Amino acid sequence: MKSVVIYYSLTGNTSLVAKMIAENIGADIIKLKPEKEIPSTGSGKYFWGGKSVVLNEKPKLLNDTLNLEGYDTLIIGTPIWAGSFTPPINTFLSEYEIKDKKIFLFATHSPGTKTEKCFAKMKEKLIKNRVKEAVGFDDVKKMSAKELNDKVRKFCKNITD
Ligand SMILES: Cc1cc2nc3c(=O)[nH]c(=O)nc-3n(C[C@H](O)[C@H](O)[C@H](O)COP(=O)(O)O)c2cc1C
Repeated sequence: MKSVVIYYSLTGNTSLVAKMIAENIGADIIKLKPEKEIPSTGSGKYFWGGKSVVLNEKPKLLNDTLNLEGYDTLIIGTPIWAGSFTPPINTFLSEYEIKDKKIFLFATHSPGTKTEKCFAKMKEKLIKNRVKEAVGFDDVKKMSAKELNDKVRKFCKNITD
């Protein structure tokens, strides 16, 4: 089994979880990099990021074309923006022909947010695959190291089982 963690992160939460997962299961890891990044500080990011989601934007990615052929498992991670997945993930899910893969989804978000809508929309774009599990991580930076570690390990166990 060969796995890859593919994710986007603006302020580091999703990066942290993605790196922990990749390390835990020995997966490759790819961060999606949009050509034009919104500012990561200040409240402007909510406006520009939210607008970009609402307008269903698919920003050009700086990554070299990804070759997914050698992977049977994709672990896809996104922050939740405006209740949904982020524009770079939108580009990835829209531009790549993803099929016959085992898929695990994760999202980082603020406390109390319901993740169902975000995951349902991601699953709509992944209908040619088997989406095995989708897990939300809220307020990653406020979790204790042990709490985060335990949650990541539980998720990883389901990936490798
Ligand atoms: C533009 C924008 C919109 C957001 N919208 C939501 C939201 O609708 N629901 C939520 O729970 N968190 C929302 N957040 C918070 C992020 O999902 C959360 O901080 C996430 O962990 C950030 O991930 P990152 O550090 O990997 O960028 C939003 C953050 C930004 C920047």
